[in-house]
Amino acid sequence: IDESNFVNRPPVVTIMGHVDHGKTSLLDKIRSSKVAAAEAGGITQHIAAYTIKQNGQKITFVDTPGHAAFSAMRARGASVTDIIIIVVAADDGVKQQTEEVISHAKAANCPIIVAVNKMDKESANLDMVKAQMAERGMTPIDWGGDVEFIPLSAKTGDGIDDLLENILLQSEILELKADPNAKAKATVVEASLEKGRGPVATVIVQNGTLKIGDNIVCDTTYGRVKAITNDLGQQVKELGLSETGRILGLNEVPASGTVMVAQETEKEARDIATTRAEHARAKELSKSTKVSLE
Ligand code: GTP
Ligand code: NA
Ligand code: MG
Repeated sequence: IDESNFVNRPPVVTIMGHVDHGKTSLLDKIRSSKVAAAEAGGITQHIAAYTIKQNGQKITFVDTPGHAAFSAMRARGASVTDIIIIVVAADDGVKQQTEEVISHAKAANCPIIVAVNKMDKESANLDMVKAQMAERGMTPIDWGGDVEFIPLSAKTGDGIDDLLENILLQSEILELKADPNAKAKATVVEASLEKGRGPVATVIVQNGTLKIGDNIVCDTTYGRVKAITNDLGQQVKELGLSETGRILGLNEVPASGTVMVAQETEKEARDIATTRAEHARAKELSKSTKVSLE
């Protein structure tokens, strides 16, 4: 690989934790304090991912649901991420999905920061959370371990700058690099069929620059990028490294976690997708044949 074109890329940070521990509130608070009010007002749809700036440096965040039913989504979230934030409510402590998230985070093998949220509450108990996490192999730095714990409140905003600074510190250590001129490669965070628009995929760019007109293949789906909406709801011509947006132009809805790659020609994109679809069908067929023979 020729690394001479590599530049630093912003970190992709996934927020995980038990249901109602404040993941979305935390992201809303970060966004409202770091994005101009006029821009934030333009956000109309549910957004699973967005990029902010802290002291001139970009950070891309991915939100995940804490509900028990969304385990697969959390596992996918863990796989696109550079850094994982585990949110634990200071009044509630470690719960079932917190435990699940700890194992995803360990498997993802990336830096973990524990955000102890709801510190504004009377019943907040930071030491309780630290003890519960330490018991599960997440020992705080100030207790002799190697995990950073950041007490904060998504309600008041206290501690949020500490969290962002810590993310940038961890990111620097990771030396995240990519090539903005390489063949575009982006991971699908979520996708759905939208009335009047067709398949829409929310992606995070991992390498290269994804542009309108790019011929793309994504697992067994393919197409040409028709329109890109950025995380502020604005129409843009391209998405750069670690940026997130919604892509129109695929022929079908791709699965979350699949990787979109730009190809030279439309034919190449279609051929790759078609071949993959045929392989997938053949595999399904051989599986069902085996089952019926047993
Ligand atoms: P799921 O996506 O459903 O898993 O929940 P979540 O983790 O995104 O939690 P959400 O942001 O929806 O917050 C759950 C509840 O906690 C809401 O009623 C919030 O207002 C409240 N909440 C979140 N953060 C804080 C905080 O720092 N302090 C207080 N007092 N309440 C908070
Ligand atoms: Na919630
Ligand atoms: Mg939420």
